[in-house]
Amino acid sequence: MDLGLTGKRIMVAAASRGLGYGIARQLALAGARVSIAAPTEPAIHQAAERLAEEFGAEVVSFAFDARDRESILRWRDGTLERLGGIDGLVINAGGPPAGCFDDFDDAEWQAAFDLTLLSAVRMIRAVLPSMRRGGGGSIVTVTSSSVKEPIDVLLLSNVMRSGVVSLAKSLSQQLAPEGIRVNNLVPGSINTDRLKALVGARAEALDRAFEDVWAERSAAIPLGRFGEADEFGRAGAFLLSDAASYITGETLVVDGGAMKTVW
Ligand SMILES: NC(=O)c1ccc[n+]([C@@H]2O[C@H](COP(=O)([O-])OP(=O)(O)OC[C@H]3O[C@@H](n4cnc5c(N)ncnc54)[C@H](OP(=O)(O)O)[C@@H]3O)[C@@H](O)[C@H]2O)c1
Repeated sequence: MDLGLTGKRIMVAAASRGLGYGIARQLALAGARVSIAAPTEPAIHQAAERLAEEFGAEVVSFAFDARDRESILRWRDGTLERLGGIDGLVINAGGPPAGCFDDFDDAEWQAAFDLTLLSAVRMIRAVLPSMRRGGGGSIVTVTSSSVKEPIDVLLLSNVMRSGVVSLAKSLSQQLAPEGIRVNNLVPGSINTDRLKALVGARAEALDRAFEDVWAERSAAIPLGRFGEADEFGRAGAFLLSDAASYITGETLVVDGGAMKTVW
């Protein structure tokens, strides 16, 4: 199947490592021209160099913080300057902190809103003029299984990410006549630094060995293991590509069968 990604100009947020990097890697492999961004320099530039070296791909990189409107605009402007247009966008950022209702005051709710939901609004707003000029585009959000099955200790994620999915569904209706598709990706448990940190924290809380908790949790997934960033990345590349030209407003789960919900 030809994904039709050759030459497509795609921005991927939070892509120095983990899920964002996994998507950027598959896009580079498929011949897209990729613009990646993340807060930490030089890590984001090193990630771009790795991808360029591995695939001979054109990958440009920018320092940016999803919570900062100006840095989103700088990334957008830099991408337009270097790549000449925007055909795709991946919305991604670090996750909000864990905790339950009594743990958070207004400032923490506001910070989670800025990081997860307002950042999505701002990134979409930033790329729409260019997509409209180009006659279409594809937007993909990276969310969490919490949008389908709330996770007890991740209240901020449950609420803010559900807002992102609702935003994507609403915009998919509004933007379809302009040829702009909007979809969500839901990672289950994908082997990234974040997953290792979560399993490590759990092991510490239980006073158990990291390897034991890792093995136990991965064995509980129907496919018997955690996912890899490349497997997640392939799903992202598909949704961004012309191969998914009739898919919009959808939420694609990549979780090895972990989720039990039927919708
Ligand atoms: N991995 C999973 O199984 C899983 C499951 C459900 C949901 N998620 C969610 O998916 C997202 C990505 O997770 P991951 O596993 O890829 O995490 P990760 O391996 O920790 O990587 C996080 C990426 O986000 C960047 N980042 C952090 N804060 C940012 C900010 N304020 N603005 C822009 N970029 C920022 C990091 O850049 P720096 O290194 O420069 O900080 C890094 O590139 C998170 O929101 C996470 O909660 C992941």
